Amino acid sequence: MSAEIQIRSDGHVLSRIIEGKCIEELGSILEKEKHTYLVYDRKAGGHARKLDSFVKASLALDTGEESKTLSSVEKICIWLLESGADRNALLLAVGGGITTDMCGMAASIYKRGIRFAYVPTTLLAQVDAAIGGKTGVNLLSYKNMLGTIRQSEFTWMSPDVLTTLPEEEFFDGAAELLKTFIIDNTSHSYSAAVRMLRTIRADGWAPEDYFPQISHLVHEAATVKAGIVERDQFENGERRLLNLGHTFAHAIEHHSRLDGSGITHGEAVAIGIILAARLAEKVKKDMPSGRKSICDRLSQDFQDCGLPVKCPYALKDMAEAIRKDKKAEDGKIHFVLPFEIGDVRIVDLSVDEMLAIL
Ligand code: GLY
Repeated sequence: MSAEIQIRSDGHVLSRIIEGKCIEELGSILEKEKHTYLVYDRKAGGHARKLDSFVKASLALDTGEESKTLSSVEKICIWLLESGADRNALLLAVGGGITTDMCGMAASIYKRGIRFAYVPTTLLAQVDAAIGGKTGVNLLSYKNMLGTIRQSEFTWMSPDVLTTLPEEEFFDGAAELLKTFIIDNTSHSYSAAVRMLRTIRADGWAPEDYFPQISHLVHEAATVKAGIVERDQFENGERRLLNLGHTFAHAIEHHSRLDGSGITHGEAVAIGIILAARLAEKVKKDMPSGRKSICDRLSQDFQDCGLPVKCPYALKDMAEAIRKDKKAEDGKIHFVLPFEIGDVRIVDLSVDEMLAIL
């Protein structure tokens, strides 16, 4: 029996996050669809093939950050056209965030928009990328500069698809999971998430052993994100909080692509959150003495979870890339600063102001 979280607007359901035990259960939804076109990351092929009997055609992608381009989206659209997809089609994307972001974008522009649904197969996509309707591709080496906001018909969540993930790929989603609970810790999930990640690091990655905890935390994170998206779908206010760590992270990823050091999105977000915490402490000078600093606490927790905390680039060298932040307005960046776990606020600063403070 599957559970459901809904994202609603004006009394309508915009998107459904459906939680099941295994991908096979999705068959009961897909058998009602007559025009499903499946695009999957080849790495998730074993899971995607379980849906073969419900789809009209399927396309495997070889994904990597360098493949996240407009031309890949165009190829998906050409494949849809050649496969005969009309406006009734449902594009089903099975894979991590790169697959879901590109397929969501293809579906939102193909024939001016067809329906699409996701089966996220990474922790990162389950707790972030596949919820909330942001689609997109990179432009030059700048992250997600082109894209749309359009909601998936549904996002299917089940823990079984994580079993084939290498440990490092699972942990690539850890920073986004922690990020969500740093923003909203009303369910007290931050400490539970740290405990689980620390234990997995210590005992070794055996996904099946952690299905109940993973499913619970993914549910809590999806609930937080769905609530924020429901209140601010187009990111005019509260949704900006979800960019915690990302202004720095995107600049780090930009430099990493230029020098080939291969820092992943999850690693960059972890480092970005620590930089944001350092900035928060400098901005908030009235921190009660004797209290453990938020930056120290997050650094300790992240390191215990095996996440990086040290930025490999000097801030002044990242200034240009930070200025290109797509959320910048009138020369000001909406920096998202964690003052405490569960107390995250926006502070607008120019890049020069940020450099002077940090
Ligand atoms: N990944 C941030 C957001 O969906 O708003």
